[in-house]
Amino acid sequence: MADYKIAVIPGDGTGPEVIAEGIKALKAISKKFGINFQFIFYDLGADRYLKTGELLPKTVIEELKTVDAIYLGALGDPRVKPGILERGILLALRFEFDQYVNLRPVKLYDKRFCPLKDKTESDIDFVVIRENTEGLYAGVGGFLRKGTDSEIAIQTSITTYKGTERIIKFAFEYAKKRNGKKKVTLCGKTNVLTYQFDLWERVFNKVKESYPQITTDYAHVDAICMWMIKNPEWFDVIVTDNMFGDIITDLGAILQGGLGIACGANINPTGISMFEPIGGSAPKYTGKNVINPLAAISAASLMLEFLGQELASKCLENAIIRVVREKLESLSAGKMGYSTQEVGDLVVKFIEEETL
Ligand code: IPM
Ligand code: MN
Repeated sequence: MADYKIAVIPGDGTGPEVIAEGIKALKAISKKFGINFQFIFYDLGADRYLKTGELLPKTVIEELKTVDAIYLGALGDPRVKPGILERGILLALRFEFDQYVNLRPVKLYDKRFCPLKDKTESDIDFVVIRENTEGLYAGVGGFLRKGTDSEIAIQTSITTYKGTERIIKFAFEYAKKRNGKKKVTLCGKTNVLTYQFDLWERVFNKVKESYPQITTDYAHVDAICMWMIKNPEWFDVIVTDNMFGDIITDLGAILQGGLGIACGANINPTGISMFEPIGGSAPKYTGKNVINPLAAISAASLMLEFLGQELASKCLENAIIRVVREKLESLSAGKMGYSTQEVGDLVVKFIEEETL
């Protein structure tokens, strides 16, 4: 019997509510597949920060080094200046554990929830592989003459050969394994960012030589925003840098029905990975039992996939698909036709009914 130690960080706002439903689903999976989960809770987030000033203490980092995966709700709270919790906890975890892959599936489960006219489930099924430790997120920069009218602010985008090579290789490996179109699209901006994406393009062209079975394509980031709307069926795996990946995955999320369903994995293929809904803490819905927990439950399904429990992952995804197709009136908070907890209960019911 498989045993997993999972660190749970429910976090801020509606994070705890959606994580509770994810754990409910994982308990149903545990029963059905005989997989054991030990959940260890961490109270990182706004409350702890406001009480103690702590963001991600060293002692917590040491403990997290002993788990199999991290399951995260959301970070961000109106009482705390934007950026403190995000940079001090979320980005700190991504960097600390060198989770260099941010993998975000864009998959439409029900065309009723797609904002594009004439596009169906088979048109929207791709994955964005976002570099997760470099680029503009590296935090390199500074101010000169701050507070004066001749102030200068510099934010430098960091691109390393090794960092670029490992993310591009991961994208090709994922395309090879994935049951898709066997295609990798590089998303960049070679016409303007002539240093950064020159390096990306050279590495991409070198890596692709080892994957003759994979077709390749290139799109500038601005153009890809257009193609994702006009021809989303072209895409299978998109690989891109940290900033562009952040932006295009919000666009991707809305194609699949919104942030209520969109999830992501922060992966270190040889270390500890972290799984999260990507919608944020949605503070205005906190405590109302109206937020959609399916993004968090989908993150749990991704976690199962990367723990090597592919059958369990598929079972959970199928249950989510049934809830979306057979039950929900909308994927948005307060409009689902069911409460947060009821959606979690439906997922459990469909896991139990699944005959995989
Ligand atoms: C995301 C979020 C984060 C990011 C923020 C909260 C720091 O937008 O996970 O996409 O920019 O990576
Ligand atoms: Mn984002």
